[in-house]
Amino acid sequence: MPELVRFDDVLSVRQVIAGKLHYTPVFGSDILGRRMGARLLLKAECLQKTGSFKPRGVLNKLRSLSTEERARGLITVSAGNHAQALAWGARQVGAACTVVMPAAASRSKAAAAEGYGATVILHGAIAETFAKMEQLRAERNLTLVHPFDDPQIIAGQGTVGVEIVEQVPDMTKVVVPVGGGGLIAGIALAVKRMRPTVKVYGVEPEGAASLFHSRAAGRAVRLDKIETIADGLSAPYTSELTYAMAREYVDDVVTLTDEQIVEAVRLVLAHCKLLVEPAGAAGVAALLFGKIPLAPGDTVVAVLSGGNIDLDRLKTIL
Ligand SMILES: Cc1ncc(COP(=O)(O)O)c(C=O)c1O
Repeated sequence: MPELVRFDDVLSVRQVIAGKLHYTPVFGSDILGRRMGARLLLKAECLQKTGSFKPRGVLNKLRSLSTEERARGLITVSAGNHAQALAWGARQVGAACTVVMPAAASRSKAAAAEGYGATVILHGAIAETFAKMEQLRAERNLTLVHPFDDPQIIAGQGTVGVEIVEQVPDMTKVVVPVGGGGLIAGIALAVKRMRPTVKVYGVEPEGAASLFHSRAAGRAVRLDKIETIADGLSAPYTSELTYAMAREYVDDVVTLTDEQIVEAVRLVLAHCKLLVEPAGAAGVAALLFGKIPLAPGDTVVAVLSGGNIDLDRLKTIL
């Protein structure tokens, strides 16, 4: 298979983000590690600028756009974290930015995107937001910055993988939350290039398991209905690109109930003092609930991919 995104592309993004984004810390958790029977390390992307890993891909994409493409104005579709990251990045390069989010989007995510200067359009359910975005993009001749189906975005997300290998050189497994698959595609590419023996696992909510179902079907599929508390993982489809990269580099994909995800949010807060949103806790949940095979000698990294959660929702979870 021709390389869809090159590892060198991922490495080159490091210069793009240096000094602009945090090299996020990795924390160990003895308590949670003991519960799952392995050494556990948490990559705290919940502490990244804008509260998730998303600006990594965004900064790389913005760098690749021409002056004319930026000047036309940017548009995207997002449950919220990519919207915030794009709004933040667009402001830095002086580009106008429109984000289409589902009507029921997290209020704090919509407010944050607006706070960074984006025009926020709340529209329908997540599956409908993609069509709305496409309509607006065509009508207004805007430049699309796709949340996951883009080699530049994937290369940016891959920097999480490079950092993990540097921070945990003896890692044996890594667990990554999956929405449209951009994050896991980038991480898996980097990890498999740098440490081919490390196993890479994806995690999806049962109600939004597009990559899981795509792998079962042997092709990228679109879901009719999305239902999960993990709004960050609610992408309605896996793209051809992310599907193909996952097929090449990801060892397995597992699914979880919302209750399991919520329990992981509570435990990470209680024991690690880190506030993660449901999407960000999915990797820990998969490990705690025995979805990933673990041996006593394993050193496993869970990516805490985001920490943006409405306080009202947090109250109901706690
Ligand atoms: C917190 C969080 N984790 C994971 C993901 C999944 O990323 P991807 O859509 O690239 O699979 C997202 C996507 O929005 C997210 O917001």
